Amino acid sequence: MTHAPCFASDNYAGVHPRVMAALAAANHGPAKAYGDDELTQAARARFKEVLGDSAEAFFVFLGTGANVLALQAMTRPHHAVLCAASAHINVDECGAPERHLGCKLMHVDTPDGKLTPALLEPFLLHHGNEHHNQPRVISIAQATELGTLYTAAEIRALADFAHGHGMFLHMDGARLGNAAAALGCELREITSDAGVDALSFGGTKNGLMFGEAVVFFRPEFAQDFPFIRKQGMQLCSKMRFIAAQFLALLDDSLWRVNAGNANAMARLLADRLKDAPGVRITQSPQTNAVFAALQPEVIDTLQRRYAFYTWDHEQSVVRFMTSFATTEAEVEAFAQAVRKEALTAK
Ligand SMILES: Cc1ncc(COP(=O)(O)O)c(C=O)c1O
Repeated sequence: MTHAPCFASDNYAGVHPRVMAALAAANHGPAKAYGDDELTQAARARFKEVLGDSAEAFFVFLGTGANVLALQAMTRPHHAVLCAASAHINVDECGAPERHLGCKLMHVDTPDGKLTPALLEPFLLHHGNEHHNQPRVISIAQATELGTLYTAAEIRALADFAHGHGMFLHMDGARLGNAAAALGCELREITSDAGVDALSFGGTKNGLMFGEAVVFFRPEFAQDFPFIRKQGMQLCSKMRFIAAQFLALLDDSLWRVNAGNANAMARLLADRLKDAPGVRITQSPQTNAVFAALQPEVIDTLQRRYAFYTWDHEQSVVRFMTSFATTEAEVEAFAQAVRKEALTAK
């Protein structure tokens, strides 16, 4: 079966062969259900090795579920979650956080998808005033939905700001691997070591068939989470199959290999397009997304042949996203097609 190369999302990619092999290996005989099996125990222990002793990992099916349930463990309905206006929890989760947390998302305009203490300061004006939702959690995405990155120092500054104001820091790490690979650091340097309190650890976008982990670095949030996860319909009965995938992803840092390829392919694509007439790269790629402005008719023509999203219809900006499975040959062929269409339309 042949397939057209795809630049829509890292979710379009298949399953990494080592993850598939781990799934097959886990498929022998019965095992205890609901996480009482050996693989789940081993994977939870592995998370402690990778992220530090305080890490309590809980496996769930989806990224949206990971975000919503992590935030639910940290908030009550009179609280507010501060996030970037462009955050997945704000624009791409169909209001699931508001529905399930019952509290308000306060979204902050940012130039690049990144929050800073200075941008957040005005939202604390009504601290202690019963007429206003009380900011309780700062939620950041690493990498952001715009493909930008926080350094460890920037995360630490946000964590200190949060803790200094009686708040906590949540990280949507759907693409945490891409961020760590791009920064050339260990996963813990930009999570537990930088003061993150709760993490949605992404697996699906980095080579898993399905599965994410909610990781708490504070026991008070972990304590009730089994109940929150069950009520939130994310308790997987055959959990060994999520655990086995995470063991494969963490083994020999497969996560870094996969994310590194995705990032490198985005850099290659941006490089091949940077001087192309009719193409304007709107920001240099920091992780695995390339944003480019193209004429609307060029976008239409290309989208008949290739899968990718229009990111900003008004500005005619598209997002090309690469994955662990993207090859150099696919990037070269696609870049050539984009250059050709853009030139013809000029
Ligand atoms: C930043 C971010 N967070 C979370 C998710 C999780 O999404 P899903 O619920 O589809 O697994 C995504 C997926 O696109 C994402 O881009």
